[in-house]
Amino acid sequence: MSAANRPHTREALAALPAYTPGRTVPGAIKLASNEMPFPPLASVAAAITAAALEMNRYPDNGAQALVGALADRLAVDPAQIVVGCGSVSLCEQLVQATCTETSEVIFGWRSFEAYPIIAAVVGARAVPVPVTAEESLDLDAMAAAITPATRLIFVCNPNNPTGTALTAAELETFLAKVPSEVLVVVDEAYREFIDDETIPDGVEFARGRTNVVVLRTLSKAYGLAGLRVGYSVSDPEVAVALRKVAIPFAVSSVAQAAALASLAAADELLDRCRIVVAERHRVRDELIAGGYTVPTTQANFVWLPLRDNAAGFAAHCEDHAIIVRPFNDAANGGVRITIGSAAENTRFLAAAAAWTGPRTLS
Ligand SMILES: Cc1ncc(COP(=O)(O)O)c(C=O)c1O
Repeated sequence: MSAANRPHTREALAALPAYTPGRTVPGAIKLASNEMPFPPLASVAAAITAAALEMNRYPDNGAQALVGALADRLAVDPAQIVVGCGSVSLCEQLVQATCTETSEVIFGWRSFEAYPIIAAVVGARAVPVPVTAEESLDLDAMAAAITPATRLIFVCNPNNPTGTALTAAELETFLAKVPSEVLVVVDEAYREFIDDETIPDGVEFARGRTNVVVLRTLSKAYGLAGLRVGYSVSDPEVAVALRKVAIPFAVSSVAQAAALASLAAADELLDRCRIVVAERHRVRDELIAGGYTVPTTQANFVWLPLRDNAAGFAAHCEDHAIIVRPFNDAANGGVRITIGSAAENTRFLAAAAAWTGPRTLS
């Protein structure tokens, strides 16, 4: 078949950046995808096995048991919750439910790299707003970027990949500036790793506000990245819109069973997060002692704003059999390193100690 008579695809796709996942390299330690370093709990593995025995049946499309368990846990109405195939699927549903080709989607930059891609898929205009000198979301600049075309604003808290987090007061001031027709998505993928009590619970902000949606996931703290379960908490009308654009049966029965078992074991899983947080402090302190600039982080990773030295640092780590996540860019680039097990972190710190390139911005 000649190029001339190939099936038509949308021209806009040519300009679309591909999502770059963290790399898995056999034999190397992977600190590139913000995963938990622990294996599944026995109770969760048992629930997965039991659910697998019924996989000739379709899953419950409304995930009623899971929605009920989440609603109880969060003290919200089940009508406010939508589950999706990972919270990234809910990011996509939010854009599909609110945007057309004339819409604008605001987010900080850097932030979660899927945001601009998802906006571009529907043809909406992505409006990336540079983070501050401290690598935090610049809420004043994000509010100033709102136009009559703005439909959606992603506020990632804590922010991926910089790790920085917004306080309740900062979020409150920002929300007061956002018109009620514009939906604000508070993406809390890393919420369970927060240890600063000035950082708010997004669900409390969503209570009584029709234009705030909170996204959470079982991929990170709950260790279910491979099964793909996330959820949103929003006004019931927004939830109806999100369900309309969902792919039917997107959350498998195995994933629903694993999520329910994980919620039942939440105390044990959240204790694991405390171990990760203690390791995060150790890693950050040691990096700072070694002369690195490391912004305060409230997530399960640290960020080294190495700009266009990011790729070189990542290659150096790979030489030490450690895979990290570089975003090589002179303006806002850096390297994100997931907190792994204590032994993995120690190996990373040894690699970082051996890096002879720049460690700070100045
Ligand atoms: C900020 C943020 N939001 C959402 C997601 C999506 O996670 P998942 O689709 O696994 O729930 C990620 C994943 O890395 C993330 O970093």
